Amino acid sequence: AIPPDLQTLADYERVAERHMPAASWAHVQSGSAATLARNRAAFERISLLPRMLADLRGGHTRLTLFGREHQAPILFAPVAYHRLAHPEGELACVRASAAMGIGMVVSTLSSVPLETIAEAARDAARTLGVAPVPLWFQLYLQEDRAVSAELVARAEAAGYEAIVLTVDASIKTSGFALPAGVTAANLPGGADRRQTSAPGGRILFGTRLADDAPSWDDVAWLRASTRLPVILKGLLAAEDAHIAIAHGAEAIIVSNHGGRTLDGAPSAIDVLPAMAEAVAGAAPLLIDGGVRTGTDIVKARALGATAVLVGRPQLHGLAVAGMAGVAHVAHILRADLELAMAQLGCPTLDRIGPACLFTRAS
Ligand code: FNR
Repeated sequence: AIPPDLQTLADYERVAERHMPAASWAHVQSGSAATLARNRAAFERISLLPRMLADLRGGHTRLTLFGREHQAPILFAPVAYHRLAHPEGELACVRASAAMGIGMVVSTLSSVPLETIAEAARDAARTLGVAPVPLWFQLYLQEDRAVSAELVARAEAAGYEAIVLTVDASIKTSGFALPAGVTAANLPGGADRRQTSAPGGRILFGTRLADDAPSWDDVAWLRASTRLPVILKGLLAAEDAHIAIAHGAEAIIVSNHGGRTLDGAPSAIDVLPAMAEAVAGAAPLLIDGGVRTGTDIVKARALGATAVLVGRPQLHGLAVAGMAGVAHVAHILRADLELAMAQLGCPTLDRIGPACLFTRAS
């Protein structure tokens, strides 16, 4: 049962700490202190201008992305090793996403094989009598291109609907060692080779990641290697958005990786207006980093994002209550979003725009 004191994502974060081993908790929460704080502060700085007495009939939070209907502009961001938070790992998360109609991006570093996750999504949809939830596969390019190609082919065969190439992966090493029983289930030998080749037994995002960082040639290669839409995750510079579109990216996830990459990187929401101007409607922009409430989602939409992703809150929900916890986290966000939309006089997502933002000049 979900304890009654869990009403917000902040509540889940607070309680989750008690449900995870200290080392795993520290790993999940880690990031540059300055960037982590900025990810929240950037949302908190933005004011919204409520509107009264609007006609809210016919209101809903649905949107269409790559031809598929999503129940809300919220997706689960790719997060490695869900089994750090709960023994059912990604299976619990995908069942929650199926129940809530929230799309999920499955990490290359999932702790359950990508095929098993897709199968669980289909089973859940059958049981619930609903359409299968859209699943996207997140790719970390592997040292060996054949291994990357194999991952993409497996994702296609398993029914994933887009490839999310994460390009900001030169992540600081944390010295975090995976606990027994948690592996990179999609990769040969169950290990990220970049990790095992790192000195000092550093695990997860190993020290060679910076050297192996993808180049634009790899984006062109990926574009030519799959029939699925290619989405680039981890861009913050408007100029990179231009280059991404020129290389065939069909969407961009504006992200600082939850504050886990460059110390001092701006928050996604702060660079969003410049990104939106650069892309000029040529591709949907999604953002993540610090999204914790419905008003955060409204602010993202008002500044040009199509949808948002949430990372750590998935693990917080998993740690506290498994599938039910993740479903509850998604429900809180959706309920919160509807409330914010109603208070702004916006019964549908396309009504959310710059007019929802309060600026001193207005
Ligand atoms: C991540 N993130 C991530 N991104 C990715 O593309 N592949 C991955 O495997 C992971 N793994 C991962 C693990 C953990 C523990 C965290 C916290 C984050 C980044 C993730 O997709 C997303 O960008 C951020 O988590 C968003 O910020 P919030 O919602 O956590 O504030």
